[in-house]
Amino acid sequence: MKIAIGNDHTGYALKKAIIEYLEGKGIEYQDFGCGEVTSSDYPNFAKAVGRSIQKKECDLGILICGTGIGISIAANKMKGIRAALCHDCFSAEATRLHNNANVLAMGARVIGVGHAIKIVDTFLNTDFSQDERHIRRIEMLEEE
Ligand code: RB5
Repeated sequence: MKIAIGNDHTGYALKKAIIEYLEGKGIEYQDFGCGEVTSSDYPNFAKAVGRSIQKKECDLGILICGTGIGISIAANKMKGIRAALCHDCFSAEATRLHNNANVLAMGARVIGVGHAIKIVDTFLNTDFSQDERHIRRIEMLEEE
């Protein structure tokens, strides 16, 4: 499993903590930025992470901005990307089981690092249910 990770300037510190977690678990990742800067535009990082999943270069993505909202909106405009904004483990598990979410979005100004790591752990360790009714609903998401 390879993880694409991206953040705007507000998410840099949380991104570093998540990378430490990924490295500790031996999980491969690609960091799409940004680095430590005072200002940046979250759609750039959502698009870079989303493209890597569309091209199947990465399997799942993690996106962080201040609220997680802007960066998840940006990612969800991309075909085949299902970004779930999760600030609790129940949602992180449910969105993998039911929505086969391929991107986890979080807000660095909303949750603490310890909680965020547990959410990441839950998201990465839950597989899609493969349930027929969930497959049907996910397919409907791609319809105009
Ligand atoms: C940046 O100030 C902030 O707007 C951004 O990180 C994010 O929260 C947008 O949704």
